[in-house]
Amino acid sequence: MLPLYSQSICRPYIGTPLRCVRSVLRLGILAAMAVATVAAGDDRELVKLPEPMQAHMLGNMRDHLATLNELLKLVAKEEYKPAAELAEARLGMSSLGLHGAAHMAPFMPQPMQEMGTGMHHAASRFALVATDADVERSKASLQQVTAALQEVTATCVACHSAYRIH
Ligand code: HEC
Repeated sequence: MLPLYSQSICRPYIGTPLRCVRSVLRLGILAAMAVATVAAGDDRELVKLPEPMQAHMLGNMRDHLATLNELLKLVAKEEYKPAAELAEARLGMSSLGLHGAAHMAPFMPQPMQEMGTGMHHAASRFALVATDADVERSKASLQQVTAALQEVTATCVACHSAYRIH
């Protein structure tokens, strides 16, 4: 990893190798701190769900990841319309029935429910942005679509950092 870092950092510092070495060292220390933070304890809140519901929720999660993977593939090919339809049907507000959300929500703490709703909203917003991009087809619209997709993954990350079910 280090040679890769040093290559990009050192380029602006050609002629000042000492500064370059210092930057690389600083980055190395930062990276070590990040690893330590990840390795240290797990302070996520445990949410106890009845066993069948746990399995159901994890099944939903694997579907979310598969959908995200498919969305990235479609966006990379600028196939915005199918991306919009997939996001709305599998992750957006239209997917609540599919995932049995109403059945599961009462078992989750309020903020967790809100994060779930946040994900569905973000996916529906992505669907709208992708629908617009399908008409506009510019570099700017590709950037907007990518940004909207990142807003979806931000909701995955937020909930995963806060809660666990086993
Ligand atoms: C409302 C909270 C919440 C949101 C939003 C959420 N997840 Fe999860 N997800 C969880 C929890 C809790 C677990 C179980 C983690 C644990 O117990 O260690 C989980 C587990 C998973 C797993 C592991 C499944 C397995 O079989 O073990 C995947 C994959 C996953 N999530 C993907 C996603 C993706 C992709 C998104 C966003 C598109 C997402 N999740 C959004 C709460 C959430």
